[in-house]
Amino acid sequence: MTPVDACLTDEVARLRAELNDANHRYYVLDDPTLTDADYDRRLRRLQQIEQAHPQLVTEDSPTMRVGAKAAEGFPETTHALPMLSLDNAFDDDELTAFVARVAERLELDPDGVVFSCEPKLDGAAVSLVYEQGRLVSGATRGDGRTGEGILSNLRTLRSIPLTLRSEPEAAAPPALVEVRGEVIMSHQGFEAMNERAREQDTKVFANPRNAAAGSLRQLDPRVTATRPLEFSGYQVARLEPDGGEASHSELMRRMVALGVPVSRELEVVTGAGGVIDYCRRLGERRDGLGYDIDGAVIKVDDLRQQRELGFVARAPRWAIAFKFPAQEQTTRLNDVEFQVGRTGAITPVARLAPVSVAGVTVSNATLHNADEIARLGVKIGDRVAIRRAGDVIPQVVRVIEEDRPEDAREIVFPERCPVCDSEIERLVGEAKARCSGGLFCSAQRKEALKHFSSRRALDVDGLGVKLIDALVERELVKSPADLFHLDAETLAGLPRMAEKSAANLVASLDKARHTTLGRFIFALGIREVGEATAANLARHFGTLEALMSAEREALEAVDDVGPIVAAHLETFFKQAHNVETIHALIDAGLRWDEAKVEARATPLEGQTWVLTGTLESMTRDQGKARLQALGAKVAGSVSKKTACLVAGPGAGSKLAKAEQAGVPVLDEAGFVQRLAEWEALPADTPDQPQDAEEDA
Ligand code: IVH
Repeated sequence: MTPVDACLTDEVARLRAELNDANHRYYVLDDPTLTDADYDRRLRRLQQIEQAHPQLVTEDSPTMRVGAKAAEGFPETTHALPMLSLDNAFDDDELTAFVARVAERLELDPDGVVFSCEPKLDGAAVSLVYEQGRLVSGATRGDGRTGEGILSNLRTLRSIPLTLRSEPEAAAPPALVEVRGEVIMSHQGFEAMNERAREQDTKVFANPRNAAAGSLRQLDPRVTATRPLEFSGYQVARLEPDGGEASHSELMRRMVALGVPVSRELEVVTGAGGVIDYCRRLGERRDGLGYDIDGAVIKVDDLRQQRELGFVARAPRWAIAFKFPAQEQTTRLNDVEFQVGRTGAITPVARLAPVSVAGVTVSNATLHNADEIARLGVKIGDRVAIRRAGDVIPQVVRVIEEDRPEDAREIVFPERCPVCDSEIERLVGEAKARCSGGLFCSAQRKEALKHFSSRRALDVDGLGVKLIDALVERELVKSPADLFHLDAETLAGLPRMAEKSAANLVASLDKARHTTLGRFIFALGIREVGEATAANLARHFGTLEALMSAEREALEAVDDVGPIVAAHLETFFKQAHNVETIHALIDAGLRWDEAKVEARATPLEGQTWVLTGTLESMTRDQGKARLQALGAKVAGSVSKKTACLVAGPGAGSKLAKAEQAGVPVLDEAGFVQRLAEWEALPADTPDQPQDAEEDA
């Protein structure tokens, strides 16, 4: 063993503090400071040191989250206090009746009772026990009395602190803390995980709740560690000694101080009016939260009142769950159509008997690919369960086999492109079948042109979907470069076009000729090269020539670019027709100012922005990508440090919080205008103070 000098001991302590702090800022404060790459670098450094000096390893080191495989099953764990369930309310009247019952028992005016309201998270309930500040036990709910001990798996969640944070002015952590909460998987994490599973032909989960529960019951914590799970606390079952907290909301604040994440949507309200209003507002925002909730949980906030109310059977009298409409419904699969995407990918789309799912009528859902159809064993005519959540495209998740009609038909995956009749090919290792027609296929051509002229690419104003269809169908446009040779006279002869609109389009095409390298790269529609990656490539290489001639290693040196994206880039620039298209575009007058690339990059460096409510001209993800491309960080909640809040219609608690904290607020129009200004900034105009990020 190599001797350890004090310097190294200090470095280990610093790295651990930084890593724990990064998790705390990310999961509890929602105000991240380290990038993923910086986090990983520190973790690797700590691993290196600990490997060379095993005497420095401690059980609660951030490197020790992933332990050994459980030899057999999970130990039975008895809960010190039972984990209860909740009664349900389904409408305003039932909420009002709950408030009235509570008030009557407490002999209070219903309008004076204070409630703590939170989302009802749709995941797996767990209990965590900390002794002297260290996580010593973690268990599932089980039957409420005994659950399964899954500590090794729970330790892999970065949102669960292995040791509680020390509180200012406290000599020691509380001797005992039992906090209960839900382990959930975000929509994004869930989709990415299932997408991988579909590609690798492993288990696909029907919904984030099953995925969370299944991931927690893996015998090998290394598997759990790869699953995008998050913990959010909702109840303090034991706290010794307590700090004299008088309410549930105070206990939740105490948890935050100890480093335990709790819901950011928690609000304290008064009376039935406050409760109903909270449930309504939360319901409106349900689709934008990014994770599944199945309702709201309303709790009497005052702990003495909670004790006075007590329990009936297996549920407390002081709480109720307000249930939202289900995100899963069943309907009939009427037919399957095959759509051709921009890169030729063939997606089977289920045409459904329209059904209302959580407030939205759904008549189409994706079936992903041929393997998914086989996995589901679905036939045309079947009754199917479909699921819609947030912005995610509705999906068919299950077949109700008992309901299969006698005339149910097999779904036949086409062998030739339904649009251009080219052969459909499926490369080894790829889940998607693709039309081999390339730009010969009018579906691919249309999609490529839509992408090319879209707002975030070359931003050709006035070139709508219908017009693109007409141009392609009349063979007036075969490649993007042809757009720039259209004249007003030809355009005016097309359906729904007049002289004025034709002249406008020619003018906007002319304007679109002057772009930026990042936009140009994005516009080319290279597989997996999104806006942020395109901007990184432009910044990194500076010129198109340098990018086009870059080797694999040079490409992989760019932020965001891994082996797969590098391979797509290489393939794209090797194909003669792509190179021809690029030359044709340049010949048609496309220009960008290469000197601008570097300087335009990051006027918002060092700032943290928050987006809330709905935006009309872009999705929130698009807004986020544009802010990030300008150097900003985008967080999920408002703090004093937030540089600016963008609030669309439906903005709720974040807007109130921003106004309270004096954080500047922009509406969508203001936001769009600022973005345009910043994105057009000339070279050398860093008009914001640059906060240099420290590096390891
Ligand atoms: S409080 C005694 N709060 O809902 C009160 N439960 O039917 C205990 N759940 O299995 C529960 N979000 O896993 C509470 N914010 C929240 C919750 C929540 C989800 C789940 C919980 C429990 C079930 C109760």
